[in-house]
Amino acid sequence: MAETIPSPAISYSKKRGPKEEEDGRVDDGWAAPLASKRDRSERGGDPTAALASARHEFGEHGGVNMSIEASATFTVMEADTMQRMFKGELGPDRDHYIYSRHFNPTVLNLSRQMAALEGTEAAYCTASGMSAISSVLIQLCGAGGHVVASRCLYGGTHALLSHFLPRACGIHTTFVDLHDMEAVRAAVREGKTKVLYAETMANPTLVVADVPRLSEVAREKGVKLVVDNTFAPMVVSPARLGADVVVHSVSKYISGGADVIAGVICGPESLLNSMMDLHNGTLMLLGPTMNAKVAFEISGRLPHLSLRMKEHCHRALVYATRMRKLGLKVIYPGLDDHPHHALLASITNPGYGFGGMLCLDMGTEERANELMHHLQNTTQFGLMAVSLGYYETLMSCSGSSTSSEMSPGERAQAGISPGLIRLSVGYSGTLEQRWSQFERALALRHPPPPPPQKQQPYLRL
Ligand SMILES: Cc1ncc(COP(=O)(O)O)c(C=O)c1O
Repeated sequence: MAETIPSPAISYSKKRGPKEEEDGRVDDGWAAPLASKRDRSERGGDPTAALASARHEFGEHGGVNMSIEASATFTVMEADTMQRMFKGELGPDRDHYIYSRHFNPTVLNLSRQMAALEGTEAAYCTASGMSAISSVLIQLCGAGGHVVASRCLYGGTHALLSHFLPRACGIHTTFVDLHDMEAVRAAVREGKTKVLYAETMANPTLVVADVPRLSEVAREKGVKLVVDNTFAPMVVSPARLGADVVVHSVSKYISGGADVIAGVICGPESLLNSMMDLHNGTLMLLGPTMNAKVAFEISGRLPHLSLRMKEHCHRALVYATRMRKLGLKVIYPGLDDHPHHALLASITNPGYGFGGMLCLDMGTEERANELMHHLQNTTQFGLMAVSLGYYETLMSCSGSSTSSEMSPGERAQAGISPGLIRLSVGYSGTLEQRWSQFERALALRHPPPPPPQKQQPYLRL
């Protein structure tokens, strides 16, 4: 954006009016990410159905795929059009674009799809999951604000809340057990707390957030519930359960290819408008914009996200059940004796499963490393790598990798033992082929594993 922008008026909703489509439908633009009134009612329902109801964007020459608008800047036919755009009279809803840090048609289309999927009024795609999270928190809290957050969070988010935001913005966080609603209520500071923050299924412990109850507390206390749904796209729809804002690391399941870093913020139009404000908007001014080529890539992968999630979830449940039978300490909220199983079953969208992540507690880091070594280098069950949502199984020892930002005490409080292996269960190869690779690697451990015990207790949650 040029340095001389005169007006704070640029917004995707400003001055928009209903636009009559050729087929008689009313398209009221960006503010309504779904294509018609009928479609909008599907926001309350199944995410696959809602996604299929989002407007299908065709290519410039009638291609079945949308075109990539690879331009940073956009030209106008008349000088006064530019002026009107800067006044906010003409915007993306009328196919008027100024500059791609502000809005880009390709990125906007992916944003519409994501809003449909998550059942929110609007969405904005970002360059990474962390930029989505930090932009939302800074926008909602402002300097001196306060957050009440789960103590079971991705290490990067934990570091953002406990170190970066206090130092850079004076935003402080109280970490609590989000299942203790009295502790949540007590942590809220009158007039200061702006956000209640949770992960649908926490990284890595898979603690499940009780989104409906948290949203009640958030409403009662006048704070916004922000939920990171990175571990459970399609499986859980936090906004349909009462969350105000849903964020994702699109780098994970939504991408599915472990080849891009991306994020998204799904929420009310008013919030996203404020984040685009020329003088005070974190998206506009910190500029964590998604590249149009990345948006094109991701948009083409959304239609098979539900199929991928179902297979990730199916295999995770089968493996968790079998690991359990072998006497391993497995954490998977899809198992019916997991303490959060009933809660998860009550908030999942029917037919998708219980998530594609599971954890194995091998007791010590040495034992975890030994098993991961054999799983990758001897039997080719999966890959030692951080991240998740890839078609191959990915494994990492969380305490020394993605949760290493947390202190040993914080990890202990979050239930992350030093021998905890996080597995993102892939779907390449056949299920039985992969299972036999897993069993062979298990048998190679030294000293040989003890005979299966009857039942291993769950980790403290
Ligand atoms: C739950 C969760 N949220 C956010 C992030 C950050 O996402 P990104 O790497 O896309 O910035 C991660 C990354 O691992 C994550 O696991």
